[in-house]
Amino acid sequence: MNKNIVILGTQWGDEGKGKIVDVLTKSNSYVVRYQGGHNAGHTLVINKEKIILHLIPSGLLHNNVIGIISHGVVVSPIALFNEVKMLEKNGFFVKNRIFISNSSPLILKYHIDMDIAREKKLGRKALGTTGRGIGPAYEDKISRRALLVGDLKNRDKLYIKLEEIVEYYNHQLVSFYNFPAIDYKKIFKNLLPIIDFFHDMIQDTTHILHTIIKNKKNIIFEGAQGSFLDIDNGSYPYVTSSNSTIGGVITGTGLGPKNFHYILGVTKVYSTRVGYGPFPTELFDHIDKHFSNYGQEFGSTTGRKRRTGWLDAVLLNRAVHLNSLSALCLTKLDVLDGLKEIKICIAYKNIHTLEIIKYPTMYDLENIEPIYEVHPGWNTNTKGITKFHFLPKEAQNYIHRIEEITKIPVDIISTGPDRLHTIFMKNFSIF
Ligand code: GDP
Ligand code: IMO
Ligand code: MG
Repeated sequence: MNKNIVILGTQWGDEGKGKIVDVLTKSNSYVVRYQGGHNAGHTLVINKEKIILHLIPSGLLHNNVIGIISHGVVVSPIALFNEVKMLEKNGFFVKNRIFISNSSPLILKYHIDMDIAREKKLGRKALGTTGRGIGPAYEDKISRRALLVGDLKNRDKLYIKLEEIVEYYNHQLVSFYNFPAIDYKKIFKNLLPIIDFFHDMIQDTTHILHTIIKNKKNIIFEGAQGSFLDIDNGSYPYVTSSNSTIGGVITGTGLGPKNFHYILGVTKVYSTRVGYGPFPTELFDHIDKHFSNYGQEFGSTTGRKRRTGWLDAVLLNRAVHLNSLSALCLTKLDVLDGLKEIKICIAYKNIHTLEIIKYPTMYDLENIEPIYEVHPGWNTNTKGITKFHFLPKEAQNYIHRIEEITKIPVDIISTGPDRLHTIFMKNFSIF
């Protein structure tokens, strides 16, 4: 039987999903991006070379792998074109191995301008978006006015629709946000040279996926962002505009729940967040500096410093439930090397009522402080270790404690950014 696996983030993104998708992708298989857009930044390190992917599925750097961008993704054709070209410069030729859904909403200049204009107007109340036009593009989809990838194949329709929609956006950009007007003819002109480039990639990806499943081939579904950036289940309004929890893979691909056999939650052994919004275990001390320096916690897409904090097992348990996780993959274990003690948040306390909270409401993550359990650290180097029994006892105990708290197994541990820096646990067998 074929096995299809979903790999998604259990925190606020940047858990190391890209590396794990790359590690688990085998030749002659399929990798699917199903939500989000080029707000994602997925980093791969192969033979010491670092490559950051935004829209192209991470497994594509393996030979003969086919990548699918399904209709849950919002697609910037310019960003996608540039990414394919960047990969070509690095010796990876993927153009003929990518299919894009004809129903994916397009991200065009007016979405980006609107994203930036809104953030500017919000001032101190800004969300800290990536400025990639993600929110406005999903709004267009929900409001049923979006231009779709399939529209690129019909130049006349594209031209007429662009004129209409740009008029709608210019009204807001100019009168409300005091931004310059956009010229729809210029957008059209900039799209023309790349339309032919995409022509053969644009397909009904739902049909392609059903055919792959009928032929019993393995598929990896690559999530973007993390569970608490989910529009419905996250720390609203400080979220992205798609479903980054498990539901997104169903609606975003056109497959049903029976098509997914193993759901792997990627969890960094501490927490990070880029952008604004509540972050109960956030740190501002020397431990933050340690995570920043050793973990290189700077955004893969925007270069912003990521906020850092201890592992939050209250939220992790929630992510286990939200996503029906089969197992966890813990990443960045090596970043904990050298810390005297390591904390895990196991409950919250309401700072006003002093009530102990184990199931917090996402509505009110602000008025709480974490309650920690403290574990001894280790002084040895775990970077690059590939066998569990070579880890220091304290690290082994820490990992077992996470299994105990979450009640699901840790199947994979990442001990460095490289493909090879990976521990597969004994019971791990997905294919
Ligand atoms: P993603 O968005 O979930 O794919 O994660 P990002 O690529 O944005 O951020 C994860 C960062 O951690 C990248 O720079 C990776 O190269 C790096 N990384 C992944 N796994 C490990 C690990 O186990 N140890 C260390 N030190 N770095 C890692
Ligand atoms: P990957 O896939 C981390 C955050 C932004 C902002 C919020 C909304 O690399 O894990 P948006 O541009 O989506 O409207 O911004 O979501 N954000 C991410 N944070 N990793 C990501 O993706 C993110 N994609 C969006 O920083 O707080
Ligand atoms: Mg990232």
